[in-house]
Amino acid sequence: MGADYYLKKNFRPEVLAARIYAPPRPACKVKLNQNELPWDVDSETKRAIVERVVVRDWRRYPCGEAPGLKNRIAERLGLVPENILMGNGSNELIGAIIYASSKNGSRILAMRPSFGLYSQYADVFGANFCEVEFREDLTFPLEELLIEAAGPETGLTIICNPNNPTGSVMGLSDIGKIAGNSDGLVLVDEAYVDFSERRSAVALLRKYPNVIVTRTFSKAFGMAGLRIGYMAGAVRIVAELKKILPPYNIDIFAEEAGTMAIGQGAQLAERVRIVKSERTRLYDAVNALPGWRAWPSEANFMLFEGPRDPENLFQEFLGRGVLLRKLAPCRILAGKLRISVGSPCENDLLLEALYEIDKIYGATRYEKI
Ligand SMILES: Cc1ncc(COP(=O)(O)O)c(C=O)c1O
Repeated sequence: MGADYYLKKNFRPEVLAARIYAPPRPACKVKLNQNELPWDVDSETKRAIVERVVVRDWRRYPCGEAPGLKNRIAERLGLVPENILMGNGSNELIGAIIYASSKNGSRILAMRPSFGLYSQYADVFGANFCEVEFREDLTFPLEELLIEAAGPETGLTIICNPNNPTGSVMGLSDIGKIAGNSDGLVLVDEAYVDFSERRSAVALLRKYPNVIVTRTFSKAFGMAGLRIGYMAGAVRIVAELKKILPPYNIDIFAEEAGTMAIGQGAQLAERVRIVKSERTRLYDAVNALPGWRAWPSEANFMLFEGPRDPENLFQEFLGRGVLLRKLAPCRILAGKLRISVGSPCENDLLLEALYEIDKIYGATRYEKI
């Protein structure tokens, strides 16, 4: 009998039915498909991290929760270390939060479109996943969200802020209203908050003990390869979620790298400043061309559409070495692609490709379906 027999007989059907989250990675000159920071950690910093790792004892399990790093994060957020839970990337924490909240089919509420991993985790855990659609202008539909989050069956409301892939943001007072109206938990995923003008929802934790905030070192800190994320929340919630995570999920490398990165605030601020100014440059350049349109965003990416359907445009850009992101089917995203903001040089190449494509198709129109 083949493996399929044993899988069907023994595995949870939700797992067998779920999709795998794995964005394709074709070869390209300019990679603008995963909202990463365009600059790598500099070699001097990398060497300093390695030196710190060299003197650690590799034989021993790390102290499970990267206490040095956790203390620094807590201090930075004005919290105590017991408010912080470290994760092997924020994905791990998001998964744990969805798992813990999907009790007896209670509802996991998220936005549509949003980060695809929420629905994937909810599906794998057999949760009752529901979505509220963004408005046509890509703003958060606050009234609808307030009603749905207040439903007694809602165990968790997920607000990705800024939202991936729309770049939309929700203000703290609106998040507070949702948290205040709901008996469920409210997860605010702040993977991209450093690129926005908004204050972190960490400011809400004291007033709303049902708010949980996840953050990551993968975006503004430029360390997606090292897998470091954390959540901030009420001490009691952190203590319970800890039970779900594997012990020693933060290795000594991630701990040293994160601690080093957190001490480089000036570099972080400068890189974020460049991303924001490049975001404006791209937005203006796309919108200056008839037949093209970019949407405002407070993250390091933006949605855009052009004179061809997304598949066609994606291939045209890829043929010129520029990898963009195709989006999951969704009414509001029809016709659109997502660009991550690159370095100034990468963005020059992106715009060069865009102008070439515009020369070929700019005069023609296509009908969005
Ligand atoms: C909204 C959002 N949250 C979380 C993540 C994952 O972050 P991490 O690398 O910390 O697992 C991503 C990654 O693209 C994301 O877009």
